[in-house]
Formats: sequence, structure tokens, C-alpha cells
Amino acid sequence: MTATFPALRLRRTRASDWSRRLFAENVLTPADLIWPMFVSAGDAEEPVASLPGVSRWPVAGIVERAKEARSLGIPCIALFPNTPHALRSDDGAEAFNPDNLMCRAIRAIKDAVPEVGVLTDVALDPYTSHGHDGLIDDRGYVLNDATSEVLVRQALVQAEAGADIIAPSDMMDGRVGAIRSALEGGGHVNVQIMAYAAKYASAFYGPFRDAVGSRGLLQGDKKTYQMSPANAEEALREASLDLAEGADSVMVKPGLPYLDIILRVKSAFEVPVFAYQVSGEYAMIEAAAATEAGERDALVMETLMAFKRAGCSGVLTYHAAHAARLMGA
Ligand code: PBG
Repeated sequence: MTATFPALRLRRTRASDWSRRLFAENVLTPADLIWPMFVSAGDAEEPVASLPGVSRWPVAGIVERAKEARSLGIPCIALFPNTPHALRSDDGAEAFNPDNLMCRAIRAIKDAVPEVGVLTDVALDPYTSHGHDGLIDDRGYVLNDATSEVLVRQALVQAEAGADIIAPSDMMDGRVGAIRSALEGGGHVNVQIMAYAAKYASAFYGPFRDAVGSRGLLQGDKKTYQMSPANAEEALREASLDLAEGADSVMVKPGLPYLDIILRVKSAFEVPVFAYQVSGEYAMIEAAAATEAGERDALVMETLMAFKRAGCSGVLTYHAAHAARLMGA
């Protein structure tokens, strides 16, 4: 009997480490990472129970983390404040106080570590007593246009404090255009907008809401403004509008359950797309590692690579510092 064998063996290029490296279609570097961090008004580190390994830091500690980002080659950090409860109100007015915790943190980072990019979240949930991202009417419905006006004021104080990327995460219609024209009017022509274009009403945000202290406050859910996990076409419409309104880049959030959305947005628009590997995804990896159901380092690197493969320019991840070290930084 004549031996038949495949002329093409795809295993050939996988046979040794040098060859696997040579044939790698995608690479991960620390420059692909954005490191989200939580700012505390207190004066000590506060571990976040539902995010093992993640803490809220006072402004001085955040500056130290920013220096760590610089030395690890992580280009950008994202800030989220845990606003003291006494400063939260129905109208979230603390969001546009130029001396709020967020603005103090931005200024301190830009003073000490100007080489690191600072991305700031625009939405009212860390500032409202009801935990919603916008202003609500007497039935609890989040008002679109009135909210947009407040978001514009919030974006402006952040830009004035030195924010490099404004990231509206509120999902109001029309807010990207409104923020872009206010930034232009205020002379902030080089402040970027990264739109949370496709942000889903997700069960993966639980630990984040603990970290910014909004979980216990949230009345109802966010389904009247965040997207339904059933929809993909709508994500393309969201991205298309945000781009038309002047977004420099778009984000898909959460990350891993929405890789199909990342790929579709990337193929449809050929623009920079970012993924947010959110708090619940981080917690899942940590939970798997804690029970030895998976190896932390391998899970972290595999999930991050999946985002690159799907077409992302970068990923927001709470594992950023750890991942950068795994990459040899
Ligand atoms: C707030 C905001 C949320 C996240 C980022 N910005 C939570 C929410 O919409 O309730 C979630 C991030 C995470 O879970 O890591 N607008």
C-alpha cells in the first residue's frame, strides 16, 4: 500500500518555539494596554473586595500607579472616582466641580507623570444619589438631552484639568457631538474622544459598581440606555453615529462576550477599536485562578490576545500591570 501523507502539514510551523514566534499573526505589547484605576477620597489604600488584587488609591497613590504604568510601558491609564456619599446628589453636580476628586487626580498625574495618557470616564453614576449615569425624571427615566448638557460640563472640567482622552460611557444619544463641539470651542482641539459606542446592559459590571460605590444606590437597571445583549446591528449604528459626531476611537464593552461586535465594528468602519475587559471578566479570571480551574497568567494572556486577534488597537484591563510584567516589561 502506498503511503499517503499530507503535502501540507500545518503542524510544521508549530513545531518549535522560534517558528511559533516567527509565524505569530498578532503580538501583544504593554503599549496595547490601558490600565483602569479607582480613586479614593480617603488617605489609605482600600482593597475592593469583589476585585481581588485591585484597590482604590488616594490621589498620591494614583500618582505612584501612574509612575508604575510609565515604567512598565503602559501608555494610558483610566480614572474612576469613588465620590464621597455626602457629595452625591440627584443632579450629580459634583461631576462638573473643577476641584472634584477626578480633576484633582488628573492634575496630580499630569504634574508628576505628564508622559502617561489620562483617560477619563464621562457619566454621572459616580456622582448621583440614584446611581444612574444621567438625570432622571420623577419616574426614574434617564433624560437624554438634559443629561447631555451636564456631560458636556463634566467633559470640559476634565479637559481643563488635563485629561487626554474623554470617554463618554453614558450612552446618551448625541453626546459625542455635543462634547466635541464644546472641546473645540474651549480650545481643546487635541483632546481625544473615545466613545463607549457599544456599551451593553451587562451583568459583568457588578464589581465596578462596588468599587465606585454605586451598587447599593442604583435604582432599577440601565436597560433604557445601555444596549441589549441580543443586538449587534444596533452596535454598528451606535458606532457609526459616534464616529460621525467626531469620536477618534470607539469602544466595545464588555469585552470577551462581545468579540463578535469588535470584529464587526472593525470590519465595518476600519477605525481604532478598543475593548473594555470589565470588572466581572477580571473577577471571573481571578475566581478560576483561585480554584485552580485555570492558570491566571495563561488566562490573562490568552484573553488579551483574543482582543488583538479580533481587531482591537488596545484593551482596558485591570490586569494591565500584571500583563505588562508577563510581557517582560
Ligand atoms: C459607568 C461605567 C461602568 C463601567 C465603566 N463606566 C458601569 C456601569 O455602566 O454601570 C463598568 C466597568 C467595569 O465593570 O469594569 N458609566
